[in-house]
Amino acid sequence: MAHFEIQGGVKLHGEISISGAKNAALPMLCAALLTSEKCVFRNVPRIGDVATLLEIFHEIGVEISGDPDSQIVEVQAKEVDLEKLKTCEKVRKLRASLLVLGPLLSRFGRVEIFQPGGCILGARPNFIHLDGLKTLGAELLREDEKIALKFEGKKLANRRILLSEASVTGTENLAIFLAGKGEESEIYFAAAEPHVRATLQMLQKMGADIEGIGTHCLKIKGNKKLKGGTFDIPPDGLLVGTYAIASTLTGGELLIRNVDHKELFSFYGALKRVGGRFDMEDRALRVYPANKLSAIPKLQTAIFPGFSTDLQSPFGVLLTQCEGDSVVFETLFENRLTYLQELKKMGAKVEILNAHQAKITGPVKLQGTEIQSWDLRAGAAMVLAGLVAEGTTKVTNVDYIDRGYERFPENLEKLGARIKRIK
Ligand code: EPU
Repeated sequence: MAHFEIQGGVKLHGEISISGAKNAALPMLCAALLTSEKCVFRNVPRIGDVATLLEIFHEIGVEISGDPDSQIVEVQAKEVDLEKLKTCEKVRKLRASLLVLGPLLSRFGRVEIFQPGGCILGARPNFIHLDGLKTLGAELLREDEKIALKFEGKKLANRRILLSEASVTGTENLAIFLAGKGEESEIYFAAAEPHVRATLQMLQKMGADIEGIGTHCLKIKGNKKLKGGTFDIPPDGLLVGTYAIASTLTGGELLIRNVDHKELFSFYGALKRVGGRFDMEDRALRVYPANKLSAIPKLQTAIFPGFSTDLQSPFGVLLTQCEGDSVVFETLFENRLTYLQELKKMGAKVEILNAHQAKITGPVKLQGTEIQSWDLRAGAAMVLAGLVAEGTTKVTNVDYIDRGYERFPENLEKLGARIKRIK
């Protein structure tokens, strides 16, 4: 299996343009299953999770065109082979395969898939998705190693649905389902993450009427004849954060282009608080070397607009270089502090207080060694640690990283990092 080898200690320099967001691309591609018309997507990231989803689409008879290397992908779901979907093993590889439930149930009235897998970050229950669909009138036929649903009613059983958590993919799945129904409904405690907003804007463009985008209360008037069209995947704010941390960690200077600042305020706030220096330019972020990095009393993750859980592990690496004691409080997931065990192997001073909290004391000169990726974001964090460590760092399990970071080692190399993908 491939791994990355990094010689640390090089300052990053140069420019990088940010690719499309994984967490917008996945639900938006699934929304294309609502219609038999063609949907053209621009700025599609070339990452493992998108490739897997498109392979699933291909297996179930959805037409996919566009050069696999270009960032344009055309999807046309004239027909969908629901029988093939039932036995499609690739669904197991990707938690986001849950997102086919909403569109297919909405359009065909039935759907069956294997239970999806993906990164193991904690309980990550499906209940928001399944309870939500049941509340709207779907019947859950099975939920063992497979999930099967049918929706036979002509009308929604309820027009108001209250989520018990502001689940990102839960909101997307339900909104996609409702967009294909010709009735008016409301979702309360909807997620407001930027990728949810992008998905809702796509549904609007397809012909659904949606009010409250970007808030926790959505009003959706669906449309049984949704159209195709051309849709832009927004830039990935998580990549902006990752590269900004990489720059600050190595004392380098980067110009990061294709940035939507509005989704990054809580990240910028934390970066500023530890002493990071940067300028918000027009759709770009310029990062300068910090004069001094200082600990933060609490880095607490939260739903949007709070500090994203997906940037917690990369930021944790930065905290090893900040003077004093920092406390990380991961409020969302139960298993998202495991990367700290790897950092300890590199010499980081870390005390895991419980499943959600850890104390990181810095600054510590990290030492290169062999470390593994525990999940996608933890994997990116390992690469960042390697960039600042003394000597050689070998990062294993890099498939995780390739699932969500387009050409990560190749892009870092262009910025001056000494990093190699070893096959
Ligand atoms: N949660 C709360 N309170 C809330 C909402 C969520 O405690 O109000 C907890 C849940 O219990 C769960 C976790 O937060 O343990 C995440 O829940 P959610 O259902 O929102 O997650 P998801 O939809 O399965 C998406 C992203 C994840 C990202 C989370 C949180 C996609 C495809 N996945 O997952 O992305 O971490 O939202 O923002 O959009 C990643 O990209 O590496 C990744 C794991």
